[in-house]
Amino acid sequence: MSKIMIVYWSGTGNTKMMAEQIGKGVLSEGGEAEVLEVSGVKAEALKEVPVFALGCPSMGDEVLEEGDMEPFVEELERFVSGKKIGLFGSYGWGNCEWMRDWEERLKKAGAQIVNGEGITVLGEPDAETLENCMILGKSLAMS
Ligand SMILES: Cc1cc2nc3c(=O)[nH]c(=O)nc-3n(C[C@H](O)[C@H](O)[C@H](O)COP(=O)(O)O)c2cc1C
Repeated sequence: MSKIMIVYWSGTGNTKMMAEQIGKGVLSEGGEAEVLEVSGVKAEALKEVPVFALGCPSMGDEVLEEGDMEPFVEELERFVSGKKIGLFGSYGWGNCEWMRDWEERLKKAGAQIVNGEGITVLGEPDAETLENCMILGKSLAMS
Protein backbone atom coordinates (compact mmCIF):
# COMPACT_ATOMS: atom_id res chain seq x y z
CA MET A 1 0.00 0.00 0.00
CA SER A 2 1.42 3.42 -0.89
CA LYS A 3 1.70 6.27 1.58
CA ILE A 4 -1.41 8.45 1.76
CA MET A 5 -0.52 12.13 1.52
CA ILE A 6 -2.77 14.57 3.37
CA VAL A 7 -1.93 18.09 2.20
CA TYR A 8 -3.50 21.06 3.95
CA TRP A 9 -3.44 24.78 4.63
CA SER A 10 -4.58 26.04 8.00
CA GLY A 11 -4.32 29.52 9.53
CA THR A 12 -5.57 28.90 13.05
CA GLY A 13 -5.31 25.12 13.38
CA ASN A 14 -8.86 23.87 12.78
CA THR A 15 -8.18 22.32 9.39
CA LYS A 16 -4.83 21.05 10.70
CA MET A 17 -6.69 19.11 13.43
CA MET A 18 -8.82 17.50 10.73
CA ALA A 19 -5.73 16.59 8.70
CA GLU A 20 -4.09 14.93 11.68
CA GLN A 21 -7.23 12.96 12.46
CA ILE A 22 -7.46 11.73 8.85
CA GLY A 23 -3.84 10.60 9.22
CA LYS A 24 -4.83 8.61 12.32
CA GLY A 25 -7.62 6.98 10.33
CA VAL A 26 -5.13 5.89 7.67
CA LEU A 27 -2.85 4.43 10.35
CA SER A 28 -5.73 2.62 12.02
CA GLU A 29 -6.28 0.69 8.76
CA GLY A 30 -2.61 -0.31 8.70
CA GLY A 31 -1.72 2.35 6.10
CA GLU A 32 1.06 4.91 6.11
CA ALA A 33 0.16 8.60 6.23
CA GLU A 34 2.07 11.81 5.52
CA VAL A 35 0.40 14.94 6.85
CA LEU A 36 1.95 17.91 5.07
CA GLU A 37 1.50 21.68 4.93
CA VAL A 38 0.82 22.74 1.35
CA SER A 39 3.59 25.37 1.46
CA GLY A 40 6.16 22.56 1.63
CA VAL A 41 4.74 20.38 -1.18
CA LYS A 42 4.99 20.65 -4.95
CA ALA A 43 1.85 19.68 -6.86
CA GLU A 44 3.96 17.34 -9.00
CA ALA A 45 4.53 15.18 -5.91
CA LEU A 46 0.93 14.01 -6.37
CA LYS A 47 1.25 13.27 -10.07
CA GLU A 48 1.76 9.54 -9.66
CA VAL A 49 -0.38 9.21 -6.53
CA PRO A 50 -3.83 7.67 -7.07
CA VAL A 51 -5.42 8.54 -3.71
CA PHE A 52 -4.81 11.54 -1.42
CA ALA A 53 -6.54 14.20 0.67
CA LEU A 54 -6.60 18.00 0.54
CA GLY A 55 -7.72 20.37 3.27
CA CYS A 56 -8.32 24.12 3.29
CA PRO A 57 -10.67 26.41 5.22
CA SER A 58 -13.04 28.86 3.56
CA MET A 59 -11.04 32.04 3.01
CA GLY A 60 -11.36 35.34 1.17
CA ASP A 61 -15.00 35.37 0.16
CA GLU A 62 -15.85 31.65 -0.04
CA VAL A 63 -12.64 30.71 -1.82
CA LEU A 64 -9.52 28.66 -1.12
CA GLU A 65 -6.54 30.29 0.57
CA GLU A 66 -4.98 32.24 -2.29
CA GLY A 67 -1.26 32.28 -1.49
CA ASP A 68 -0.48 28.57 -1.46
CA MET A 69 -3.56 26.37 -1.84
CA GLU A 70 -5.21 28.06 -4.83
CA PRO A 71 -2.10 27.83 -7.08
CA PHE A 72 -1.52 24.28 -5.85
CA VAL A 73 -5.05 23.25 -6.83
CA GLU A 74 -4.74 25.02 -10.20
CA GLU A 75 -1.73 22.84 -10.98
CA LEU A 76 -3.46 19.71 -9.74
CA GLU A 77 -6.44 20.29 -12.01
CA ARG A 78 -4.20 19.47 -14.97
CA PHE A 79 -3.58 15.88 -13.91
CA VAL A 80 -6.14 14.69 -11.35
CA SER A 81 -8.32 12.84 -13.82
CA GLY A 82 -9.06 9.36 -12.43
CA LYS A 83 -7.69 10.11 -8.97
CA LYS A 84 -9.59 9.69 -5.69
CA ILE A 85 -9.40 12.77 -3.48
CA GLY A 86 -10.68 13.33 0.05
CA LEU A 87 -11.54 16.96 0.82
CA PHE A 88 -11.94 18.69 4.17
CA GLY A 89 -11.89 22.10 5.81
CA SER A 90 -13.27 24.42 8.45
CA TYR A 91 -15.36 27.54 7.91
CA GLY A 92 -16.56 30.49 9.98
CA TRP A 93 -19.87 31.88 8.85
CA GLY A 94 -20.67 30.98 5.26
CA ASN A 95 -22.79 28.28 3.63
CA CYS A 96 -19.92 26.01 2.54
CA GLU A 97 -19.95 27.40 -0.97
CA TRP A 98 -16.15 27.18 -1.04
CA MET A 99 -16.31 23.41 -0.52
CA ARG A 100 -19.09 22.86 -3.08
CA ASP A 101 -17.05 24.87 -5.63
CA TRP A 102 -13.90 22.89 -4.78
CA GLU A 103 -15.69 19.56 -5.23
CA GLU A 104 -17.10 20.71 -8.59
CA ARG A 105 -13.74 21.92 -9.84
CA LEU A 106 -12.04 18.64 -9.10
CA LYS A 107 -14.92 16.58 -10.48
CA LYS A 108 -14.81 18.64 -13.65
CA ALA A 109 -11.10 17.82 -13.87
CA GLY A 110 -12.07 14.14 -13.74
CA ALA A 111 -11.35 13.28 -10.09
CA GLN A 112 -13.62 11.33 -7.76
CA ILE A 113 -14.38 12.84 -4.33
CA VAL A 114 -13.95 10.15 -1.67
CA ASN A 115 -17.20 9.56 0.26
CA GLY A 116 -19.05 11.82 -2.21
CA GLU A 117 -18.38 15.19 -0.59
CA GLY A 118 -15.85 17.10 1.46
CA ILE A 119 -15.99 17.20 5.27
CA THR A 120 -16.84 20.67 6.57
CA VAL A 121 -17.07 21.99 10.11
CA LEU A 122 -17.97 25.31 11.67
CA GLY A 123 -14.86 26.44 13.58
CA GLU A 124 -13.02 23.87 15.66
CA PRO A 125 -13.77 20.24 14.80
CA ASP A 126 -16.22 18.63 17.23
CA ALA A 127 -16.27 14.94 18.15
CA GLU A 128 -18.58 14.00 15.26
CA THR A 129 -16.35 15.75 12.74
CA LEU A 130 -13.24 14.10 14.14
CA GLU A 131 -14.99 10.75 13.81
CA ASN A 132 -15.86 11.56 10.18
CA CYS A 133 -12.22 12.49 9.56
CA MET A 134 -11.17 9.15 11.03
CA ILE A 135 -13.62 7.40 8.66
CA LEU A 136 -12.26 9.36 5.70
CA GLY A 137 -8.74 8.26 6.64
CA LYS A 138 -9.88 4.64 6.70
CA SER A 139 -11.60 5.05 3.32
CA LEU A 140 -8.43 6.53 1.82
CA ALA A 141 -6.34 3.67 3.16
CA MET A 142 -8.77 1.12 1.70
CA SER A 143 -9.14 2.82 -1.70
C1 LIG B 1 -9.23 36.17 5.81
C2 LIG B 1 -10.32 35.22 6.21
C3 LIG B 1 -11.38 35.02 5.34
C4 LIG B 1 -12.42 34.14 5.67
N1 LIG B 1 -13.47 33.96 4.82
C5 LIG B 1 -14.46 33.12 5.15
C6 LIG B 1 -15.57 32.93 4.28
O1 LIG B 1 -15.65 33.50 3.18
N2 LIG B 1 -16.55 32.07 4.67
C7 LIG B 1 -16.51 31.42 5.88
O2 LIG B 1 -17.42 30.65 6.19
N3 LIG B 1 -15.46 31.58 6.73
C8 LIG B 1 -14.45 32.40 6.39
N4 LIG B 1 -13.39 32.56 7.24
C9 LIG B 1 -13.37 31.84 8.52
C10 LIG B 1 -12.44 30.62 8.49
O3 LIG B 1 -12.81 29.75 7.43
C11 LIG B 1 -12.57 29.89 9.82
O4 LIG B 1 -12.07 30.73 10.84
C12 LIG B 1 -11.86 28.56 9.87
O5 LIG B 1 -12.20 27.89 11.07
C13 LIG B 1 -10.35 28.71 9.78
O6 LIG B 1 -9.78 27.42 9.71
P1 LIG B 1 -8.26 27.18 10.12
O7 LIG B 1 -8.18 27.18 11.65
O8 LIG B 1 -7.91 25.84 9.58
O9 LIG B 1 -7.45 28.29 9.53
C14 LIG B 1 -12.36 33.44 6.91
C15 LIG B 1 -11.28 33.66 7.78
C16 LIG B 1 -10.28 34.53 7.44
C17 LIG B 1 -9.10 34.72 8.39
